[in-house]
Amino acid sequence: MSNRNLIDITDLTLAEIDGLIDTAEDMIANPAKYQSACAHKQLATLFFEPSTRTRLSFESAMLALGGGVLGFSEAASSSTAKGETVVDTVRTVSCYADIIAMRHPKEGAPFAAAQRSEVPIINAGDGGHNHPTQTLTDLLTIHREKGRLDDFTIGFCGDLKFGRTVHSLVNALSRRTGINFVFISPEELKLPQYLKESVLEKNHLAYQETDSLEDAIPRLDILYMTRVQKERFFNEADYVRLKDTYVLDPEKLIPAKEDLCILHPLPRVNEITVAVDNDPRACYFRQVKNGKYIRMALIMLLLGLRAE
Ligand code: NCD
Repeated sequence: MSNRNLIDITDLTLAEIDGLIDTAEDMIANPAKYQSACAHKQLATLFFEPSTRTRLSFESAMLALGGGVLGFSEAASSSTAKGETVVDTVRTVSCYADIIAMRHPKEGAPFAAAQRSEVPIINAGDGGHNHPTQTLTDLLTIHREKGRLDDFTIGFCGDLKFGRTVHSLVNALSRRTGINFVFISPEELKLPQYLKESVLEKNHLAYQETDSLEDAIPRLDILYMTRVQKERFFNEADYVRLKDTYVLDPEKLIPAKEDLCILHPLPRVNEITVAVDNDPRACYFRQVKNGKYIRMALIMLLLGLRAE
């Protein structure tokens, strides 16, 4: 039987995503029920790029399921530094682990690894391309905060060109109904054309593009802020010029809806001031917590396991 991988968010059906959300809700309510679900199973986290939340939430998820964890958090401490290919590294690690979460700076690396792996591969972020498990986290958060995954206006603000979390979430939301997309970015950081064509226009979804957060904010139900992705820029001067284009502060929130939900995949740099953190509309730290539970549900799904 071939492995079940998660490389792109569309590898999961809508019914599977809804099932993951239901399981995550049950895990939040009844954690004890799942504490041995992955006993004697091992998760490997292979991170060729920096991470705090994604790697630690995967590890914390596996530990909460009673499983074990192994891995590395930088390429320099693996045999990559000696010239080993990603495919060989993954073939090796699949001798020790039952499932692998992998982050890599090259777009498509987890896909290539999955072709030769003996165990399921989860894409934990590939370059400026996709980040499907952040999307599952975002969907669980929207579901918990708003009670639904349809019929809302969502504004994506910041680096929509290189922001992989944006790409995967747009893809996921394009399969729901009644979503209005507003893309807020400077000209240089607009959503890539391939996504507009192959996801939005192909599905006849209307969207607006603007460079003004102030103009867009009053009509939003969800505001998805992002960091300008410094590591993807070819030129330091361009990064410096664009990095502080948008800074969300309490004043900018005055015309916003009272039940606005502010999301951010984190880490934040300057794009949300700490003064916003105490606003009840700031959901980004609750979003972090949800990331652990949805990854617990995902690990169980890909390993074909059920709670007792
Ligand atoms: C994001 C990522 O790595 O793409 N972080 C995360 O996984 N929560 C967003 C970012 O780095 O800006």
